[in-house]
Formats: sequence, structure tokens, C-alpha cells
Amino acid sequence: MPSLFSRKPIAELLVEGEHPNALKRALGAGDLVMLAIGAVIGAGIFGAIGSAAAGQTDAAGHVVRLGAGPALVLSFLLLGAACALAGLCYAELASMIPQAGSAYAYSYATLGEIVAWIIGWDLILEYAVGNVAVAISWGDYFKTLTGGWLQLPAWLTTGYRTALLSSDPAVHGLLASAPHVGGLAILINVPAFAIVMLITWLLLMGVRESARANNIMVAVKLVVLALFIVMGVTHINKANYLPFAPNGFTGIHQGAAIVFFAYIGFDAISTAAEETKNPQRNLPIGILGGLAICTVIYIVIGAVLTGMVPYSELGKTADPLSYALSATGLTAISKIVALGAVFSMTAVLLVFQYGQPRIFFAMARDGLLPRWAAKVSAKHRVPHVTTIITGIFVALWALIGDANETYDLTNIGTLFAFVLVCIGVIVLRYTDPDRPRPFRVPFVWVVGLGGAALCAITMYGLPRSAWERFGWWLLIGLVIYFAYGFSNSTLRRGTAPVSPDQD
Ligand code: ALA
Repeated sequence: MPSLFSRKPIAELLVEGEHPNALKRALGAGDLVMLAIGAVIGAGIFGAIGSAAAGQTDAAGHVVRLGAGPALVLSFLLLGAACALAGLCYAELASMIPQAGSAYAYSYATLGEIVAWIIGWDLILEYAVGNVAVAISWGDYFKTLTGGWLQLPAWLTTGYRTALLSSDPAVHGLLASAPHVGGLAILINVPAFAIVMLITWLLLMGVRESARANNIMVAVKLVVLALFIVMGVTHINKANYLPFAPNGFTGIHQGAAIVFFAYIGFDAISTAAEETKNPQRNLPIGILGGLAICTVIYIVIGAVLTGMVPYSELGKTADPLSYALSATGLTAISKIVALGAVFSMTAVLLVFQYGQPRIFFAMARDGLLPRWAAKVSAKHRVPHVTTIITGIFVALWALIGDANETYDLTNIGTLFAFVLVCIGVIVLRYTDPDRPRPFRVPFVWVVGLGGAALCAITMYGLPRSAWERFGWWLLIGLVIYFAYGFSNSTLRRGTAPVSPDQD
């Protein structure tokens, strides 16, 4: 009987991507860089950056995290280094095992089934829960954008958890002023819900069409961020840079732990491995190229933003970039940036809503999830069942959830996956030294251990509540594994992987 730590042969993983009912190979290197930028630049830089700079307090006035202040640029640098190291490790594994399951598939081949399950379960935090935060931030910028002509009541644009956790009396007060049903305040975020449903529909139309839509949105986001930088730089007040690091290293560290969200996504394109032409060459280009471009943009945006307004003001608003522009008199530009933010986050939603179903798909193919989750639609060759389930899960959570709370949960889950990927690269060098590695991490011990250490240090900066929820999440995952996957795993049963059925 194979053990809990049975490893899946890589040769088997490679064959799955060539199945006649497999996903369609349509993406090139350029598409992947665009997909990476599409996934990376979003709610983190447009929304989470405010709490990272200013810190955060809860409704009772307790400090949840300290802010980095203008030293936010150092948080971005630290994260850029952590993600570059993890990105190198992702690139080696993705080029070697170009399979839809991403870190899930890599850990199945390197660290064994139980670790793979934990990672697959953990990736739900990155992809699906991450998209909850993005959808909520999308809703905030949508409100800024349409504020002049579309006045939805606050109870239709604010999630229950946001009102409950907010330290802003106007938002917290909605708990009392919103309509009540059976004693419960009705506080729902309709824009966040609606955008997720729209994206789900777009994805069901097929990958090629979605990649094209992504390319347009990425172009728009780059133009808008360039506009923010060019206009913002002329409105910098040097006094805002002092004190540079108001909370010392603790602020830089705790700021980094939330704004890490801004970097998530370069790894998401690894889930497109089975739909990529020549993945051995194109995946590393997509991952590392996308990450490098985003890191430079973030450092510049962080420096400009904290020079425009006192950092403490950035925590009071859900749309800090637009806020800084309005506060310096650039009201028209602030609307353009809000429009760009809405486009940017739409692109992020698209990539993550695309990635999550493919991880479920890979897990179902291995028998760790029920067989119906591995269905592929005959017309568009997309995993439509898991696409619909992901859409409903994310949309419902976004309807009542809070952005900061979900940023933290996503970050802890993603950082954990990064740590395991960094370690997995080293393990595989020893357990499977002869397999061709179209992309090899240089100085693998330094990069792998360095990446794992930097990601673990970043995790350590997250609030206690995130750790507790993460612990519960993993526990629930283990219960599900022992209730289902343990006895249905194709590897443990010695049967062939489930073929993707067509509908
Ligand atoms: N990095 C992505 C964002 O900031 C998840 O929205």
C-alpha cells in the first residue's frame, strides 16, 4: 500500500497534458508575461498599499498592524527579493512539470501526496479567497468612479464583515442603520458579487478569448499607472517623507506582510502550463519577466504615493491612489486612475478565476476530488464545472466579506505554498537528478533556502488572527483528505489518473 508520502512519477504528470481531451495549447511567451502582469498588478497596489503604509486598527481601537510609512519602498524591495527567489524556483518546477496543478502538482512529485493535498487545499486561499479581496477592492474603486452619477445605498455596496471590523464610525455605524431582517443587518456588496459572476461567464467562453481580453486590460493598467507616476511626481511634498520609517523595522515588516498581496500572481501563470505552447521556454520567461516589471513599478508607485500625502491618511480610504490624486487637486486624474484600477482588478480576477478551476481539475484527475470536477466542456475545452463552482464560492464570499481580512488569509496561504515550492526544488534535485531541467535555478541551495526563509519571515509579520484561521483551514482540509482523497487517490489505488470527461 503506498504511503501518505507517495510521490507521483513526473513522467505520468507529463503524459496527462497530452491526453486528447486535455486542455488546448494556445498561449505563447508574450501572452504569459501579459497574464502575469494581469494577475499581479491589482488590489495590492491599488488597495492594500494604504493599510501597509498607515497600519490598521480594529473597531475597538486595537492595533492590528503597524504601518511602514514612507519606508514602504523598503517593504516592496524585501518582497521583490523574496518573490524573485520563489519565482526562480517556480520557473524550474514549471518548466520541468508543465502541468495545470502548479504548486500542487510539483509537491505531488517532490514531497508526496499528503503534502500535495495540503498545498492544493492551501492554494484555494491564494486563488479563490484572494479573488474575494480583489472583488471587494474592485467594488471600492467602482464606487469612486461612479460616485457622481450612480448612488447606490451604502448597505448595497458594503459587506457585513467590513462594517463589523471597521474602525471608521461611519462604516461601523452601518450595522445599526442598514435594513434589518430578523435582527440581522443586511449589508451586501452587490458590485463585488456582480463582477465575479461576469468574469465567470467570460471564462466559460474559452481560454483564448479570455487571454485576448486580458491583453487589453493589461495595456490599460500600465498606461494608467504611468499617468499616476507622471502626475504624482510633480505633487510631491518632501516633508511627507519624514519620518521615513515611523515604526522602524516592525512597520516595514508588518507593512510587507499585507502588501505582499500585490506580488501574488506571477506564480498563477504556472496553472496555464497545459495550455502553453513550448512551456519549457515560455513559462520561465512569463514568470520572471512579469515579476521584474511589476517590482520596478511598485517601488516607484510607493515612493510617489507616500510623497504626495502624509502616510497616515492612506489608511482612512479604500482607494488610496485616487485619494492621493484628489487630495493634491488632481481630481480629474483621480477618476482616470479609478477607471484604470477597475480595469486592472478585472484582469486580476480573470487570471485567478482561471487558475483555481484548473487546480481543482488537476486534483480531481488524481482522484483527490470527485470525478465530476475533472469534466471539460466539449465546445470550449475548459473545466466548466469547477469554473462555475469557483465563481459561486467567490461571488458569495465577496458579497459579505472584508478586504483586509481576506488579504491576510490569502497572504499566509500563498507564502506557505512559496516556502514548500522553494524546498521542493532542492528535494527534487536529489530525488530526480537526471530529469531534464529546461530551466535550472542557479545556486539552488542559496536560492531555495533563501526564498523559503524570506517567505517565512514575511509570514511572521501577519497578525495572530491570520495564523489562527490558517490553522483551522488546514485542519478542515486534512479532515476532507482522510474522508475522501485518502481512499480515492488514483496513486494510492494504483489506478490510472481519471481522464478528463467531456460534456
Ligand atoms: N497581486 C494581485 C493583486 O494585487 C493579487 O490584486
